[in-house]
Amino acid sequence: MTFEDLFGCDVTVSDKGSITSWNETMMGFLAHSASTADALGKTLKLEPDFALAHACRGLFSMLLARRELSTVAQEAHTKADNCRLINPVSFRENCFIDALKAWLTGNPSRSVKLMEQILSKSPHDAMAMKMSQAIRFMLGDGPGMRRSLERISKVYSEGHEASGYFKGCHAFALEEAGEYRLAEAAGREGLELAPDDAWGLHAVAHVYDMTGRAQDGLNWLSGKEIAWQHCNNFRYHVWWHIALMHLDLGEYDKVFELYDTEIRLDKTDDYRDIANATSILMRLEFDGVNVGERWEELAELAASRTEDNCLAFADLHYMLALCGAGENKAASSLVGNMEGCHKHRDSCEMSSIISHPGLLAAKGLEAYRDQDFELAYSDLSNARADMVKIGGSHAQRDIFERMTIESALRAGLGSQARILLRERDLHRGHRDGYSEARWQILDLKAAPQKVSGNSNFAATDVA
Ligand SMILES: [Fe+2]
Repeated sequence: MTFEDLFGCDVTVSDKGSITSWNETMMGFLAHSASTADALGKTLKLEPDFALAHACRGLFSMLLARRELSTVAQEAHTKADNCRLINPVSFRENCFIDALKAWLTGNPSRSVKLMEQILSKSPHDAMAMKMSQAIRFMLGDGPGMRRSLERISKVYSEGHEASGYFKGCHAFALEEAGEYRLAEAAGREGLELAPDDAWGLHAVAHVYDMTGRAQDGLNWLSGKEIAWQHCNNFRYHVWWHIALMHLDLGEYDKVFELYDTEIRLDKTDDYRDIANATSILMRLEFDGVNVGERWEELAELAASRTEDNCLAFADLHYMLALCGAGENKAASSLVGNMEGCHKHRDSCEMSSIISHPGLLAAKGLEAYRDQDFELAYSDLSNARADMVKIGGSHAQRDIFERMTIESALRAGLGSQARILLRERDLHRGHRDGYSEARWQILDLKAAPQKVSGNSNFAATDVA
């Protein structure tokens, strides 16, 4: 039978009572809550033939960008497909099932289009709204995020159940577009409407990052732990943002404290956690700070993900871990597998992105590890224009931007480093601590220093 869920959208289930747990699933997904998987599990236990819930299980699996979860997603699609053969489902539900299929066959952009088709008919479908943003995030499609949200915004200004989460998503899209003032306002409004919306809260943290206002960012996040304590491992990402702010202020002890007690509280190999960890260690090393044995733990986990090739962003962060610990064999293996993606570039969107710019960037990381800074600069600067395609946020991809600058500095390419820094400053709206320190080096015409040893990725002390 067809009923309406919390957002007034069609769901095909046998018992109206089971919609409660489906609503919890949707709200959990919007809030990045750790409870989402349990709510979805409960829904499927109550409604084993609920096609939409199976499709969402598959899409949630794909969002985690892990090779083994493609099998889970494929099984979920088969179940969803069988369910809709037995009980015909609504347009919305068909689109979700087809979106999963599109991603499984290598075309996540098609999955996004299907979410947009739902939103054209039902702009109030907050599940499709959030799914569209989540997939676009992995495709680095900031402009698309903004377009998607702004064409449906009217619906969410009229007392919609998800209006706070909508504003949080809009805040993030605005921030990625460089509309910092609008993003901050939207994020603050959103959090008032949805106090558990860690995504919106963190969109405002992005604004402070991009505008070099680390202390303001710390003030904003301080005392708001309730917004992210309930989260899945997204909570580690919020701690990462806090650590970045301390790093920008040169408070390295605090960075290490957060790294050891929050960011790596769980030693997971989730690519988002590995990205948080590797990129903070790398930033510390750019600043000449010794990070001790911390690379090893990450490299051990990354070594078992060298055949993933699900997402360039993930592969590049595994690469950071492997290079950081001097696990050269595993790093070569990962690069080899990334090279292998070339033959699938026409049939699989993610393989195409891994093939370029992913592979070039990975080779740049290898060259940096080998202290061949000229080659590192060449590879990274050639990848740079397309790096947005690897996905993630500007703040996350900044690690590759910094490495390109560090390569230029260490290769003695002062004028190239100046161009990169100037572009970075313009893009970010204001100089941050990193930029100030590098301009100081360039203005003083300090000779970049190379140091020996490769146990740590970037054992240099330019800053
Ligand atoms: Fe973030």
